[in-house]
Amino acid sequence: MAQGTAKPIAVPPPPMGWSSWNSFSNTVDSQVIMNQAKAMSTNGMKAAGYQYINIDEGWWLGQRDADGNIIVDPKAWPAIADGEQPGDMANIVRYIHGLGLKAGIYTDAGRDGCSTVGPDLGPSYPNTGSEGHYDQDFLQFAKWGFDYVKVDWCGGDKENLDPAIQYAEIARAIQRAEAISGHHLYYSICNWGKQSPHTWAPNIGGISADIWRTGGDIVDPIVAGTKNADRKAKFKEVLREFDQAQHPEAQHTGFYNDPDMMVVGMPGLSDQESRAHMSLWALSGGPLLVGADLTTLSPAALAILTNMDILRIDQDPLGLQSVKISESGPGLEVWAKPLSTIGERAVLLLNRTAAPASISVRWSDLGLRGDSEVSVKDAWTQSELGEFSSEYSAPVPAGDAVLLLALGSEGATTLYFPEEAKTEAAAGHNLPTTRNQQLTFSKVTSRFAIARVRITYSNPDKTPRFAELRVNGRIATRISFPSTGSDSTTGVVSIESQLNSNGAKNSLTFSVSSGPKPDSGPDSGPDSGPTIQSIAVQ
Ligand code: GLA
Repeated sequence: MAQGTAKPIAVPPPPMGWSSWNSFSNTVDSQVIMNQAKAMSTNGMKAAGYQYINIDEGWWLGQRDADGNIIVDPKAWPAIADGEQPGDMANIVRYIHGLGLKAGIYTDAGRDGCSTVGPDLGPSYPNTGSEGHYDQDFLQFAKWGFDYVKVDWCGGDKENLDPAIQYAEIARAIQRAEAISGHHLYYSICNWGKQSPHTWAPNIGGISADIWRTGGDIVDPIVAGTKNADRKAKFKEVLREFDQAQHPEAQHTGFYNDPDMMVVGMPGLSDQESRAHMSLWALSGGPLLVGADLTTLSPAALAILTNMDILRIDQDPLGLQSVKISESGPGLEVWAKPLSTIGERAVLLLNRTAAPASISVRWSDLGLRGDSEVSVKDAWTQSELGEFSSEYSAPVPAGDAVLLLALGSEGATTLYFPEEAKTEAAAGHNLPTTRNQQLTFSKVTSRFAIARVRITYSNPDKTPRFAELRVNGRIATRISFPSTGSDSTTGVVSIESQLNSNGAKNSLTFSVSSGPKPDSGPDSGPDSGPTIQSIAVQ
């Protein structure tokens, strides 16, 4: 089958929700969570697609019973409905689920959690980590009914643990918990970018969709009515975490760089800065986890968070990240994210300087045909700005950004078949990647430093198959290939690969993930990868 007829496969989008940390620090309790969940379900956020209510640090004070089970404070987490027991986290989960939302919980990969490192409010309490109890704790989270778990790194860091090893162990504990409970837990890794999680987090331990933090916290919690009420969020810290999160080669097929919870609508950011912040996260395809107190959001902040046209950019089913495509002077940058509509790009003109400036985007830099007319829209207002040949320029205020949608004709791509299968592929036979078989596409060229690679494959299983990709011998990333329904039905997933920027010819090698098998039995685990037919490179 030619690549043109293979169907594009939608990949899991980045999560959307709210997290307790930025506005409540470790003062979080049942009442706080109920109020936030109520607000999300009634203020238009749920209707816009936000779904997770995530409980961050402070829900648990490190107590376990004689069998090692977590004990929570029954006053902080009382019964909510008739027949419930105080001190049972299933109560708050039921409440959240009852509003049609999903529930997230938090722990640490080490013995201690972050409160022993520097408690933000309230006393320091040790032993709030899951080390030594991975199977027990993740099963407990699943049994309570949680849908999402964020795993922090304060204890792991203090003990000098290796994050790639610990987070893979946890991924396997999550898989076992899912198998026992029948309940899925979305996996959020939070080790602030230490030891480059983008190089090991995709598909860690066999997990098929997850996110990993790429840097530190944008803001220390701003908690109304406490000594920390006067803190301010700063736009320059928003930009810092956006920059830390740019690893487009790792963001694909349901795996996402996480630039941190958003501070849209929090004290310190102007509406204009909140809008630019939202533009940056949407363009980056980042998880959209709101940190502001949802019960006191201004109408302007709510409108920014629920603009469906901006959310569509973030949630685009191609699942790719933005790439910086030009910089006409220091701080005058153009970023672009390929979208699933053929020939469409989200484009950000970003002015980091203290003076207004005009910034231009050239169609050829977007991978669109440079000689074609491209229609340009303002992404926030959806107003048509017109049809333009070769480029578009706009004035951008100091410290602000303009987000555009550009729709034109897709530029040329080059089709490659694997070395091992050139004759077979020509004859219509395709090789599966297995543990003994790798597939190499050689002499690959692109005029872009970050090439867009569309992979045509098939996977007859109901669940994703995985393959590891090496670019020029270097382990680049692990890719998830969702089901295509049958061996004879092909699908396409897209990735972005960093090739040699000097235009040299590159090789891309796919093999079955060499990571540990998800199950422990000797004959279990992924011996088969997808059948990869061809790649089209732009
Ligand atoms: C770390 C994380 C934050 C938050 C706090 C809780 O700093 O990066 O997102 O979870 O811990 O203490």
